[in-house]
Amino acid sequence: CKAFALIPAAGMGKRMGASVNKQYLQLGGLPILAHTLAVFQQCPRITGICLVTPADEIAYCRDQVVSACGFTKVIEIVPGGRERQNSVMNGLKALKRHAAADDVVLIHDGVRPFISPDLLRESIAAASSGDGALVAVRAKDTIKTVRDGVVQDTPDRSTLWQAQTPQSFRYGVICEAHQSAEEAGFAGTDDSSLVERRGGRVRIVPGDYRNIKITTPEDLILAEAFLAAFRQVLP
Ligand code: CTP
Ligand code: MG
Repeated sequence: CKAFALIPAAGMGKRMGASVNKQYLQLGGLPILAHTLAVFQQCPRITGICLVTPADEIAYCRDQVVSACGFTKVIEIVPGGRERQNSVMNGLKALKRHAAADDVVLIHDGVRPFISPDLLRESIAAASSGDGALVAVRAKDTIKTVRDGVVQDTPDRSTLWQAQTPQSFRYGVICEAHQSAEEAGFAGTDDSSLVERRGGRVRIVPGDYRNIKITTPEDLILAEAFLAAFRQVLP
């Protein structure tokens, strides 16, 4: 089957608090989003990339990121929505012209530039043999459930994983899950949760602690350090 990437990059970066949306902040002299797109551009298994950006940044993204860096696999640039889930939905609709129900779609945050080519390959393989695949790492810290400032529960750490992206699914499976969530008014913080609520079996692809989502200012410092330390092994 074919494999497509869907990259949501239509957020406002409120927690970063920078003057531009965080996907355009510079990392090693290139926008964060360009690092992310480069990994998918260079992966031979990826046929096409659908990029989701804020409506008023489509032209900027096309000219200053996609064309400027020669990302020839970008086949669609579409406007995002209010929440990430709405942005992914817009991307899924745009992929209708390109993807068949059995093709795999890898949904990956535009602000996770350290995804490795190996994890893309493993995700595609895992997603094409089940309902979906989720890159995740084991929780390092003990996680508490808290209500009104008081601990309610301490889930057994050995069962806890931190969800990253890509989250990968057959195109038909993820479209049905998003459609159903929209109709039910269900809001999930990731794509896997929408497939889980439909009874889908989502397999874990053991991930990489470097695959951070650049969210707050200290993540940028970490990202520069990762880039300096691992530049040789990442594209
Ligand atoms: N995203 C999106 N559309 C939205 C919200 C988020 O496409 N309406 C994207 C972001 O651009 C990012 C990814 O989803 O690549 C993960 O979201 P997050 O880290 O929360 O980014 P922001 O929403 O931009 O940041 P914040 O929540 O701090 O405002
Ligand atoms: Mg957000």
